[in-house]
Amino acid sequence: MSPSPTLTPEQLAQSRILVVGDVMLDRYWYGNVDRISPEAPVPVVHVNHEEERNGGAANVAYNAVTLGAQSSLLSVVGDDAASHALQALVSKAGITPHLVRDAQLKTTVKLRVVGRQQQLIRLDFENTPQANVLAAQSAAFAQLLPKHDAVLFSDYGKGALAQVHELIGQAKAANKPIFIDPKGSSYQRYTGATVLTPNRAELQQVIGHWSSEEDLHTKAQNLRHQLQLDALLLTRSEEGMTLFDEQGHLHVSAQAREVYDVTGAGDTVIATLASLVGAGWTLRQAVPLANRAGGIVVGKFGTATVSYQELFA
Ligand SMILES: Nc1ncnc2c1ncn2[C@@H]1O[C@H](COP(=O)(O)OP(=O)(O)OP(=O)(O)O)[C@@H](O)[C@H]1O
Ligand SMILES: [Mg+2]
Repeated sequence: MSPSPTLTPEQLAQSRILVVGDVMLDRYWYGNVDRISPEAPVPVVHVNHEEERNGGAANVAYNAVTLGAQSSLLSVVGDDAASHALQALVSKAGITPHLVRDAQLKTTVKLRVVGRQQQLIRLDFENTPQANVLAAQSAAFAQLLPKHDAVLFSDYGKGALAQVHELIGQAKAANKPIFIDPKGSSYQRYTGATVLTPNRAELQQVIGHWSSEEDLHTKAQNLRHQLQLDALLLTRSEEGMTLFDEQGHLHVSAQAREVYDVTGAGDTVIATLASLVGAGWTLRQAVPLANRAGGIVVGKFGTATVSYQELFA
């Protein structure tokens, strides 16, 4: 295993990541519950506090900027209040937004209503983008590509990456490393990517159950060959992560001391990986740091990002 080289904040600041995928607005309404509704047997929440956060691909882009890299975010959104709220949030975070608007599309919003310290309901607003807005996104991608060092596709299955195959073709032709957080039961459309980063459940959906570590290695390498990937990175929660590549495999054990909140660890991992490779590191050099970043983020409540100081401390 080659040791990780040093990386100054100035070097990391040169790394330009283009994040493309399903963006979401994570919204939280907090309030008091004093009574049951006279209309139905449900609590009445008197909302007194609202929070909005970057979700999905926007959270991935956010992780790249909190580390100190540059990130642009390309996605498709509606022409609704939520898309403007998201644009403001993204800009405020220091991410350069490229949001392609379509009035037919509803910006994906996940609204949680929280009362008595617990989530009472989650309401999802979303629909599927049409071909015309995806074509506009594709054209924007071609323009943005030359100004970036790495491309990161964050697939949450909402449809922004329905044409990912074509985008991969463009990125390959431009010689850019391609990182993909995949979704679904078939990965054919990701053929030719540099690396995919499924978690255990996601990989199992594609290669089936593995009966032993050896069986996993065989199946993972078969998938890697079949999809013509440089590497496959399996993120394994409390088991750390394993990289499968041409040289074989590289396993790193989980680093977390205490685990408080595991959501978003996958976003942190892929953003760290892309930021370091964008700065010139190899995948094998970047994997232990990405694993460390995942371990740091699961030890935090609420915030799902890691800073340069935390990562390189
Ligand atoms: N319980 C845990 N203990 C220690 N480390 C963890 C734990 N969960 C996650 N990690 C770290 O975070 C990385 C990514 O986590 P995981 O494999 O759960 O991704 P994920 O399922 O995609 O996460 P997400 O909730 O963002 O979708 C792991 O490889 C590991 O480094
Ligand atoms: Mg994930």
